[in-house]
Amino acid sequence: MLKIATRIKHRGTSTLPGLMLMLFCHTAFSTAIIEGERMHPELGTRGMVVTSHFLATASAQEVLKSGGNAIDAAVTAAFSLAVTQPRSGNIGGGGFMLLSSEKRSEVVAIDYREKAPSSAHADMFLDQHGEADKQASRFSHKSAGIPGTVAGLALALEKYGTISLRKAMAPAIKLAQHGFPVTPRFSKGLKAAEKRLKKWPASTRHFYKADGSYYEPGDLFVQKELAATLKRISANGASEFYEGKTAELLVSEMQRHGGLISMQDMKSYQPVIRKPIHGNYREYDIYSMSPPSSGGVHVVQILNILEGYPITELGHNSAQTLHLMTEAMKYAYADRSRYLGDEDFVNVPLKGLISKEYARSIQEMIDPNLVTASKTISPGQPTGYESNETTHFSIVDQHGNAVSNTYTINFSYGSGITVEGAGFLLNNEMDDFSTKPGTANAYGLIGGAANKIEPGKRMLSSMSPTIVKHNGRNFLITGSPGGSRIITTTLQVIMNVIDHGLNIQSAVAAPRMHHQWLPDELRIEEGISPDTIKKLEDMGHVVKQKSAMGAIQSILIKDGIMYGGSDPRRSTSLAAGL
Ligand code: GLY
Repeated sequence: MLKIATRIKHRGTSTLPGLMLMLFCHTAFSTAIIEGERMHPELGTRGMVVTSHFLATASAQEVLKSGGNAIDAAVTAAFSLAVTQPRSGNIGGGGFMLLSSEKRSEVVAIDYREKAPSSAHADMFLDQHGEADKQASRFSHKSAGIPGTVAGLALALEKYGTISLRKAMAPAIKLAQHGFPVTPRFSKGLKAAEKRLKKWPASTRHFYKADGSYYEPGDLFVQKELAATLKRISANGASEFYEGKTAELLVSEMQRHGGLISMQDMKSYQPVIRKPIHGNYREYDIYSMSPPSSGGVHVVQILNILEGYPITELGHNSAQTLHLMTEAMKYAYADRSRYLGDEDFVNVPLKGLISKEYARSIQEMIDPNLVTASKTISPGQPTGYESNETTHFSIVDQHGNAVSNTYTINFSYGSGITVEGAGFLLNNEMDDFSTKPGTANAYGLIGGAANKIEPGKRMLSSMSPTIVKHNGRNFLITGSPGGSRIITTTLQVIMNVIDHGLNIQSAVAAPRMHHQWLPDELRIEEGISPDTIKKLEDMGHVVKQKSAMGAIQSILIKDGIMYGGSDPRRSTSLAAGL
């Protein structure tokens, strides 16, 4: 500790979230920096919370301070995000939580992904010409899957937590009841989504002032109906959401507007505890989400392919490294289009997809200097059978527990539809199914029959909450929003740490790239050098610089010190240690 103490300096927080948190809490707050580091991760020895909203970080940090474990803090963070970040934080959506316990030497996954209602069917989003009706799959009441968030969080707390649901939800209820200051990001988001949200009276009332004007930075945003819903859940448990007044409000909303979710659908929703995908990369163990997410499978598959190359020597974001990453990604996303879906309904060749042997067969097809056009790549033949606005947080405690959680309502503000009288948004996750096999979804992802709509099935996801272990100890906790870019964003933070030795804040902030097979373009963020881009183009890549990708909230643990890296791509992100 002494050695560390001499390396750590404390300074007053100068970040926007830090300043806003100071104003909100009226308490001094400090961020740790390490001398000599280019980017400063936050430090802790007794716990670390990294979320995309500083108030959710503060609420979860308080739980850890008062003796709660990482799971308790995670449930508090998730409910707090549902209040402070309604564009993605939610109780009307679903997600995945990975939990690692060093004491029990186990990593488990809680799947609380939404499910298709019992009256859903494969052709429900086809118009009279047999074409995919995007309006219906994305912005109608039919676009909502049965929400899983409340059941998933309650299960996590009951099985692995130490505090009551009432205690875990108290900070969220307070934030909804008394309000919180609007940030520039919050205000900008609602202005951008105005057309979509104002189609629905309940959304208009909820997200805009009584005269229809905008909430501006610094205004207080109060959500009385959401507070009442959260209070009912806190008092009566998750069954309130699935069988009580909240379920009745949601089902009435469906009935008034031609939606499909019934009381029976709500009542029968169950989250599932699953075995995560497990692979290894160099001397590290990688645990990530199993189907119905495609995330874990393809993070491990791409790492397996890249393990065959001297990535460290080739260098961080060099043309050669980016070329190899791009080619590996194309093969993985081609396989995603054919094989991935909800394993409760279809056989996914998991064993084959994540095998080293299959990765070697792909390495043989990769030319180290030349592009292979996506149109010449098709899904492979793995053998061995055994799945844009989203938000991720990572939390660790001093007892060896780590939580990596990603949850979503799909688009920013989901379908835009607020449940009348209940104050929360409905997801539009049904668009993550292959509404018409072979047709791209909102993220340009092509899906196949494995991901067709079936009653009670979970739609394929890319969410990749990941925990990397080293010598049996929790090492890296990470995950991101970003639709199809989630997999590649998560992959890059893993490589930035393992191959390139970046500290966690630098690993999170470094410019990223993405290729998803189709469209055949290498997408990059600002910050890749022009001569690197030129070299990539000379190899045959179609390079396109586009907006920032993902918002990866990560923790690295080394020699007992917890390093938090929050993503600067989200101005409200905050890492806080204790
Ligand atoms: N809705 C985005 C995903 O689950 O991948």
